[in-house]
Amino acid sequence: MTTRGRVALKVGVWAVALAPLAALLYGFATDDLTVNPIEYVTRQLGETALRLLLATLALTPLRIVSGWSWPITLRRLLGLLAFFYAVLHFAVWIVLDHFFDWHTMGDDIAKRPWITVGLTALVLLVPLAATSTTGMIKRLGGRAWRRLHRLVYVAGILGCLHYIWLAKKVLIQPWVYATILMLLLAVRLWNSGRGLARRAEQKKAQKIVIGSRG
Ligand code: HEM
Repeated sequence: MTTRGRVALKVGVWAVALAPLAALLYGFATDDLTVNPIEYVTRQLGETALRLLLATLALTPLRIVSGWSWPITLRRLLGLLAFFYAVLHFAVWIVLDHFFDWHTMGDDIAKRPWITVGLTALVLLVPLAATSTTGMIKRLGGRAWRRLHRLVYVAGILGCLHYIWLAKKVLIQPWVYATILMLLLAVRLWNSGRGLARRAEQKKAQKIVIGSRG
């Protein structure tokens, strides 16, 4: 892909990702955030965070299936945008839902285990956001960095669980997200299995060559 194409793609991602926030700000300015604005804003921010997290997780499987390399150039941007929305979602819970009342927050966490699940997902995203720079990749080393960043899958699973669990009745939407996540994980697992089989074949071929020489 050309540099111009890459820039256009990133501008498109910024525009699409920031549209839900712009819609919320417009709704606030025009006093049009439904009869329960706090719940509405919390939900919109949570759902956008989950969508962006799944979009981040879709990039490697997309490269595996298509052979294209450009999806990987969007990974850091989409991951940071997902983190940004998750932090806003959390901030609304602290500031607007609980007005910094640590007691009621503690009660909420104790009474509603799905809050703990969401909190764990957010905590897992913190080291990933902190080590997303090129400098940190170099400092950690590619292997350790990749291993650490596999936590994003755990955050995705917890994000889906948070949504499935918080719904008071069975909703189709959280299951749609969970199914997408399972499909993405299945592609990664299939690819890892393929890599292992390929390495085993290579080792076997090497042994045969060495054996035939000896
Ligand atoms: C990566 C982290 C997180 C993700 C991906 C996430 C995602 C979501 C999603 C998808 C929803 C449902 C939206 C809808 O109904 O349309 C939601 C709702 C909610 N989340 Fe999160 N969340 C995360 C972290 C948190 C944290 C840290 C807290 C608070 C400590 C939290 C508190 C809530 C609350 C209070 C609701 C609204 C529940 C209701 O409507 O009754 N979430 N979240």
